This record gives sequence, structure tokens and C-alpha cells, in this order.
Amino acid sequence: MIMAIDKSLRDSAQLFILELNDLRQLVKRFRNEIEAGLHGRESSLKMLPAYVGRPTGEEKGAFIVLDMGGTHVRVMSVRLMGDRNAAIEDIVRHPIPPRLRRGNGESLFDYLAQAVRAFFSSHDIPPRPLAFTFSYPVAQYSLSSGILIRWTKGFTVSGVEGQDVGALLVTALKRAGCADLPFMTLINDTVGTLLAASYRDSTCDMAVILGTGTNACYPERAELLSCPGPFPQGEVIVNLEWGGFSALRRNAYDRLLDRQSPNPGEQRMEKMVSGLYLGELVRLVLCDLMRREKLSPSVTALPLTKPYALTSKHLARLITTCPPGMEDVIELIHHVVTRSARIIASGIIAVVTHQDPTLQNSHTVAVDGALFTGYPGYQDKLEATIAALLPAEKARITLIPEREGSGVGAAVAAAIALYR
Ligand code: GLC
Repeated sequence: MIMAIDKSLRDSAQLFILELNDLRQLVKRFRNEIEAGLHGRESSLKMLPAYVGRPTGEEKGAFIVLDMGGTHVRVMSVRLMGDRNAAIEDIVRHPIPPRLRRGNGESLFDYLAQAVRAFFSSHDIPPRPLAFTFSYPVAQYSLSSGILIRWTKGFTVSGVEGQDVGALLVTALKRAGCADLPFMTLINDTVGTLLAASYRDSTCDMAVILGTGTNACYPERAELLSCPGPFPQGEVIVNLEWGGFSALRRNAYDRLLDRQSPNPGEQRMEKMVSGLYLGELVRLVLCDLMRREKLSPSVTALPLTKPYALTSKHLARLITTCPPGMEDVIELIHHVVTRSARIIASGIIAVVTHQDPTLQNSHTVAVDGALFTGYPGYQDKLEATIAALLPAEKARITLIPEREGSGVGAAVAAAIALYR
């Protein structure tokens, strides 16, 4: 008998449910790991100082930003007006070809440098200070240097882990004939998002990325961190690298995805939450059931044979169009995506209550990434979870979308570096 999917799929979908009590525990574990990481004790949160604090909003200047994310490289010219206003004057996007994600460092950095060079060739602008956003875990030792700890988000490029990515870029820029660009700053995309949002709005005190990967940062009191300033406002932004958070209960599909990934054991939270992995989790459940049962043709017509062929974009399309015969698959997608939003909501509450335990003040959280801005209903799920966990204080936490913040924020970092 052909099943339009049945009890076993519903049973598998249940494996993705996290109840409010689980989430309360999760918030506590998150806060413990934040404290442990900050004080140098063992923690799955790296708590990396970014060597920069929040801006005053008066920073000015024109900059070129190179922003390398999980799927695209963007080059943009950004102007900061000095009155909390910033403008992207121009932006060019290049996809990162799959061969470069698995190749060698020189080819990847040459591709980045060529993107910068092409930007100058096609735009009639004089050389400007260059700011670099690199969306991978980097242990910084200044605002312009830091070593890549490990690749994440499926990258396996050789010769970059353990190297200073700022220096690799400078060398590649020389090879590309762009030696005249003063290289200013190296930042993470979360840090960029916080800098961009707080340039405009001084109440912003956390940033979250929810795209191919996931991560967050917030401003911490500088005296807690051993990192030389000066930090005029006494604070330094800390990159949690929360994709690595590991105090989470995983099910059989989470473990399978992890085992088959290029970095088993790492980025446990990211693999349960972010855009790169949600489709793959759904695919693994469906493939498992297909081995045991005959599923309806509408289900088997999905791209299930190749790993990672079912993407978050497919999931978004399915839940919007609700094709007949797919009701149980849609229920599965609902549970997988809701779990993602619930884990993220718990992380946000942990970071905000770490800063303000009794939630005396209002907090603005800037969020960027295609899962947040592009997946229908994701923001609602996130806000509903925050409201369920903090019924009395929910109005103290406001989520704001911050598009292209990772790029604009790099310019803000460069302006801070120039004038300090
Ligand atoms: C991954 C990277 C992290 C980045 C995040 C979002 O988790 O390790 O540095 O911020 O993806 O792009």
C-alpha cells in the first residue's frame, strides 16, 4: 500500500519537538557556557573578542568592503555620513563556486582579490581603505589580524586554518595589482551586523546571523577580557561562535548529518538550526522512511537522492504552496524549522539576560541572514518563543532585520580604526 506518509513520519517529526521546559533548561546551559567561555573555562562557546566596541554614530568616511559569506562574496563601497547615516553606494555580488569551497587557499584568496580589483575597474573611484568581513571563526589578535580556527559551513579549503586571513588577503591583493589599498580591518559578519545596527541605533546590543550558518555577538565589559584597547566606551564586542554550542539533545538524524559532514562533532547547534542544514535534516528523515516504506510519488519526486539537494528554499516553497499529498512532510518541515527558531530564541534570551539579568532595560537585537529575512514565518516563530519564555518581559526584546549589515559594519569598524 502506498502511504501519503504515515505514522512513522509523524513519529520522526516528533523527534524534533522541543517543549518550553526544555527551552528553559537550554537558556540556563547557554548562560553557563557564556560565563565559562568568558572566564577561560572549558566551553563550547568560543567567546572571541573582536577588538572593537560599538560606534558613537559620528564616524565618517568612504570605504571599500569585501564581505565573504557562506555562499557569496560581495564588494561594496560604503559611505558613513557621521550623523548615524550610512549608505551603500554600490554593491557587486559573486557566487563562490563549489570548487573554490573545497580547493586551496591561494585560489580562494585570489578570487577575493580579483573581485576587489574588478570592482575598481568597473567603478570610477580612487583607492579607499579596505575593510574585510570574513564569516568564519577567527581568533583575532588585533582589529586587522587573526587566524582562522576551523572552516565551517561545508568549506574545506586547504592551507588557511591556522593562518592569518588578513595577511592572506593582503598578499593576494598584491598579486592582483591592488597593493595601494590600505587594509584596515578584519571582522566577523555578526560583529559587522552589530556595528551597522548600533551606528544607527545606540540601543542595539546584540546581533544574530541566521543564514547558511548561525552566530551571535554582543558588547561585553572590556575589563572582563584580556584584550588591549583602547575601547573608549569600555566595551568590546564578543563573537560567541554559537554555532558550536553543544549542550543540546540531538536525535538520530542530527547525529547522522553530523557524521556525514566534513567536520563531525563540530558546529552542533549550527547543524540543527541554520539554513545550510534544515533541508538536509528533512531529506535524511525522508530517505530513512523510503528505505522502509513506499512513499507517495509527490514525496519521492523531491530531490532526495543527493546530499544537500533539498534546500531551505525548497522547504520555504513547500510550506507556501502546500502541494496535495504532502501534508505530513509539511508537518515534518514545521517541526524542524520550529525547533531551529526555538533554539535561537533561547540563545537570544541567554545573551540578553547575561547582559541584564532582570531585564530592567530595553534591548534591540539586529538579525540578518536569509533564514530570518526569507523563510516565511520564521521571525514569528522566534518572537512567539521569546514571548512564551518571557511573558512579562517580552516587550523588552525587539528584533530588527538588518540587511547587508555585515558589510556596512565593516566600514564602521574601519572608521573606528582610522580615528582612534
Ligand atoms: C558560521 C561561522 C561564523 C559565522 C556564522 C554566520 O557559524 O563559523 O563565524 O558568523 O557562520 O555566517
